[in-house]
Amino acid sequence: MRRQVRICSTIAEVRAACSELRSEGKSLGLVPTMGALHAGHLSLVRAAKAQCAAVAVSIFVNPTQFGPSEDLAKYPRTLESDRAALEKESVGIVFAPTVQEMYPPGETTWVTVGGLSEKLDGRSRPGHFRGVTTVVAKLFHIVQPDRAFFGQKDAAQLAIIRRMVRDQNFPVEIVACPIIREPDGLAMSSRNVYLSKEEREQALVLHRSLQHVEGGFHQGERNAAKLQDVGNEGIAREPSVRLDYFEIVDPVTLDPVDTISGPTLVAVAAYVGATRLIDNVVLIP
Ligand code: PAJ
Repeated sequence: MRRQVRICSTIAEVRAACSELRSEGKSLGLVPTMGALHAGHLSLVRAAKAQCAAVAVSIFVNPTQFGPSEDLAKYPRTLESDRAALEKESVGIVFAPTVQEMYPPGETTWVTVGGLSEKLDGRSRPGHFRGVTTVVAKLFHIVQPDRAFFGQKDAAQLAIIRRMVRDQNFPVEIVACPIIREPDGLAMSSRNVYLSKEEREQALVLHRSLQHVEGGFHQGERNAAKLQDVGNEGIAREPSVRLDYFEIVDPVTLDPVDTISGPTLVAVAAYVGATRLIDNVVLIP
């Protein structure tokens, strides 16, 4: 049976709804999103439902994680269809605040994870992760979830949030969920709607090049530089795709590795036309 989803637009409302659940002794899961929900987001919702008695989903296109020349203005906003999708999943609480509600005028406090925030996407998107950790810290304080669910799709974001939770003693368990892909391998993303038909084809090179690296790894290659060459060459086969980074790093510190001896993150970011896409795979020896 579908339950009416409760959309809270103020912090006071969502706090009241969450503390009501907690007073009933229910464990609470939080799924933070920027909306334009797809099957990747819904997989997090399902994981949250499986592990928690109640689930809250936040929908907030967070301005502080967008650079001045990025896509904040055109980022897809689809609250009505998001609400319908979450109702179908029987989500109890949706928190969809305005920018003014989340960032009162004159707010000057930031949460920054030093070091990690300048790696991978942080290098080409200065300030991006500071915006992410600031808003996620606020969401954790507002909702006070027992568990929070994040996609492996944003592997650097996941590592940075785990570090923030550890360093700042947030009483929340971070749960990572696998990447959900289109049938042809493209990682689902709210930004995929920007791609033209040709770009949609070209975008497959990200996943394909990761698969080449994975193939090399399964054949026994453990030298990261050699595997990185395989990845770079893979991307270069689609000349219209502009590589931002192709890196082989420790999934916790995001530092490059020389030899693959433990779980290792292979991460790629590239521009397909004007759209920046990311993807990754974890190699486990
Ligand atoms: P957004 O891009 O909307 O993603 C919300 C969550 O969905 C993230 O944890 C992301 O990793 C996950 N996700 C996206 N695509 C996925 C896929 N194909 N498979 C599995 N999970 C996927 O990430 C953000 O929003 C923001 O930075 C946020 C954390 C909400 C802070 O503003």
